[in-house]
Amino acid sequence: MDKDIKILAIESSCDETSAAVVVNGRKVLSNIIASQIDIHTKFGGVVPEVASRKHVEAIAVVVQEALDKAGVTLQDIDAVGVTYGPGLVGALLVGLQYAKGLAYAIGKPLIGVNHIEGHISANFIQYEDLKPPFVCLVVSGGHTFVVYMKDYGDFEVMGQTRDDAAGEAYDKVARAIGLGYPGGPKIDKISKEGNPDAIKFPRARFQDGESLDFSFSGLKSAVLNYLNQMEMKKQEINRADVAASFQKAVVSFLVDNAMKACKLKDVDKIAVAGGVAANTCLRDTLIKEGNSKNIKVLFPEFILCTDNAAMIGSAAYFEYIKGNVAPLNLNAVPNLKLGER
Ligand code: KG4
Ligand code: ZN
Repeated sequence: MDKDIKILAIESSCDETSAAVVVNGRKVLSNIIASQIDIHTKFGGVVPEVASRKHVEAIAVVVQEALDKAGVTLQDIDAVGVTYGPGLVGALLVGLQYAKGLAYAIGKPLIGVNHIEGHISANFIQYEDLKPPFVCLVVSGGHTFVVYMKDYGDFEVMGQTRDDAAGEAYDKVARAIGLGYPGGPKIDKISKEGNPDAIKFPRARFQDGESLDFSFSGLKSAVLNYLNQMEMKKQEINRADVAASFQKAVVSFLVDNAMKACKLKDVDKIAVAGGVAANTCLRDTLIKEGNSKNIKVLFPEFILCTDNAAMIGSAAYFEYIKGNVAPLNLNAVPNLKLGER
């Protein structure tokens, strides 16, 4: 394709209202993110109704700012990309309705994007020359997947969580040890002062020994049981040790399955995506394991790991060039599966 394709992308699936302008799926002209984290922190987690209201307040301003920062007008836009699932239905609808209105008004195609595909696509922004095939470890507050990306938009889910997502486990354990919300960054930080071998937390085992699935709810319960027992024995809890031991259990599970997936598919590249990709222990452990097995480990920069519209603009581009245009009656799909349209 000779002409540059500029996509205006919108993301509102959870607690970030974001809009971006992305060229050819790789170059970010703007990526504006209005976070609601301060409001939800007061409640110890995301309150869906509050999230929807805050998206309504922010969306018009965020989109205008994305256009201004990119130095473009709506007339310069070739398509409007938007997350239509998975996520909180009320939150998704705000971005989706706004995107539909814009696409209709400027007479340009609407591209529906799967939020998880967006997370994976963040790697195409970070690494200009990155091409499939590769394995991707998607680890966020709502999702945990090991995916084989055969081609652009062509995914094979090799493993996924059977209960809690990795980020969710971080958030729940952080709450239990009194670190507050969001727990991931807090556990990451305090773990640096703790001993990861202080407490042996168990890893879930499946009947199917070959499975690349994950399970974190048993681990979370083991942490809660440990805390209860310590309290009953009136023994002092070392929060840094609990955090570091919990983190070691999560990270080793993620890294082992990711490495097994690379071996099964005979690929030498693993990309990481989602909020938990910001975790320093996960980064260090994957890089170390990757080095020992000649596997290149790729991480998007922090701002591209957590929810943002630039990653949606990248995924939208690869759908656009395949002609995957969405109808204007596209609906939000809160439990949209990866690879499903
Ligand atoms: O991708 P994301 O922004 O939102 C979802 O789509 O879920 O991920 C948010 C999740 C939260 O659970 C948060 O605790 C976790 O990512 N997270 C981290 C770190 N930074 C964010 N988890 C572990 N270590 C971090 N440094
Ligand atoms: Zn996300």
